[in-house]
Amino acid sequence: MKCKFSDYLNEILVSYNYELVRVLEGVIYLLRVLFIGDIVGKPGREAVKRFLKSVQEEHKIDVTIANGENAAAGKGITKDIADELYNNGIQFMTMGNHVWDNKEIMNFIDREPRLIRPANYPVGAPGQGYGFIRAMGKKIGVLNLSGRVFLPPLEDPFSGAIRWINQLKQETPIIIVDFHAEATSEKVALGWFLDGKVSAVLGTHTHIQTADARLLSQGTAYITDVGMTGPRDSVLGVKKEIIINRFLTQLPAKFELAGGPIQMNAVVIDIDEDTGKAQKIEAIQLLTDA
Ligand SMILES: [Fe+2]
Ligand SMILES: [Fe+2]
Repeated sequence: MKCKFSDYLNEILVSYNYELVRVLEGVIYLLRVLFIGDIVGKPGREAVKRFLKSVQEEHKIDVTIANGENAAAGKGITKDIADELYNNGIQFMTMGNHVWDNKEIMNFIDREPRLIRPANYPVGAPGQGYGFIRAMGKKIGVLNLSGRVFLPPLEDPFSGAIRWINQLKQETPIIIVDFHAEATSEKVALGWFLDGKVSAVLGTHTHIQTADARLLSQGTAYITDVGMTGPRDSVLGVKKEIIINRFLTQLPAKFELAGGPIQMNAVVIDIDEDTGKAQKIEAIQLLTDA
């Protein structure tokens, strides 16, 4: 098993020359990816500002990806908000069923290679379903898929995944899949279906981090849901009173995001850059009382 060399950097620096360390780091390298769960509105963006830099430093992160489908007040994303998130350290974003909620996205998604939407939308939908990040001299492929259970009936994400992964594989063995889906069964099934074919299958959409982050048997890192980056004392980011009342009355209600403590949910994944196999996945949660 490879190690992430920079984890041992300080110890090695005591006894070795720094230049030698840099050379060795190039030889024995493990790519460390941070994937942040759905960023919800201003509280979610505030959590990114508050936590991301220290997480990147503490975990020696090489690449940061986030799901941004709720970044604009819970509904889609705007160009300014996307730029704000890039400026705060996110390099690439995936979306989900809320991708078209803020119509402004139609004006920029075709010119924004750092932001993708589920690949299984019908042919002709704006934007791309997969893309690439360049980091540490490597290419990382990212594929965004939407589930079809309790979500719009898009194209089959299972057979589609194989087609899109084959295209990504022509460029790189390092592939991260964001599976934006509701049903745990659909998510687990896609994880097993893609085991050994991609570096990671990461669930998003349900906004609750699951306790099943693990390596599957053929080397794919998996979690059913990465969780939410936004207001903790809420129902999936929305003011709890509004949602409780909706369950009580079955009447439609305007959603408002909650205040209070903010959290960031994410996973950290170590990937062998030569084989694209994952070596480790760890779920993390950060919380402030501000
Ligand atoms: Fe979401
Ligand atoms: Fe969603």
